[in-house]
Amino acid sequence: MKYKAEEFNMNIVAIVGSLRKGSYNMQLAKTMQERYKNRMNITIADIRSLPYYDQDEELNLPQTVTAFKQSIATADGIIVITPEYNWSIPGVLKNALDWISRVDKVMIDKPVLPVGVTPGMLGTIRAQLHLREILSSPGVQGRVLSPAGNEVLINNAIQKFDAKEGRLVDEATLSFLDEVVSKFVQLIQQ
Ligand SMILES: Cc1cc2nc3c(=O)[nH]c(=O)nc-3n(C[C@H](O)[C@H](O)[C@H](O)COP(=O)(O)O)c2cc1C
Repeated sequence: MKYKAEEFNMNIVAIVGSLRKGSYNMQLAKTMQERYKNRMNITIADIRSLPYYDQDEELNLPQTVTAFKQSIATADGIIVITPEYNWSIPGVLKNALDWISRVDKVMIDKPVLPVGVTPGMLGTIRAQLHLREILSSPGVQGRVLSPAGNEVLINNAIQKFDAKEGRLVDEATLSFLDEVVSKFVQLIQQ
């Protein structure tokens, strides 16, 4: 069924690949939660509570994993917000995606928007390239927003986030993010 954005308050899950308190990537998630609240309800998944993936447990899932998978299954779309660790995605994020990829493969055909922030120069490009490969793997197979013009690679975070409130405040970045989120909404509506 097709919906128009204004008549459909989308249910979006954000998976954030950083557990640290002052995380820029978590700050980006909160910025998006607030900025797009009239278009979508963004819930930030609790991936800290997920145990390490264990194939012996995948038919007898820990409750936290069941709840996480259920939230993905019922979402209209997923935003994956990744830091870059050693030129890839953090282990906690890979762990979450590994749980999602097995048995009931709840990410298949789910619209996905990858984004990421780093204080460094290259805006998590290496992490996001890996992330896109993982998202395309047979067990995950998200319907990932095309990278053409849509790569949200936020660099120099220290200059772009408000140190006190912890929100993304750089106008050019916010304006670009608005455009990409509109295309993500279109992807969900297709
Ligand atoms: C284990 C580790 C590896 C890192 N590797 C990279 C890297 O490859 N590229 C990069 O731009 N930053 C790297 N960084 C710096 C992170 O971008 C920075 O710590 C960032 O703030 C992490 O995201 P967060 O603020 O959401 O926690 C690394 C940091 C850690 C802790």
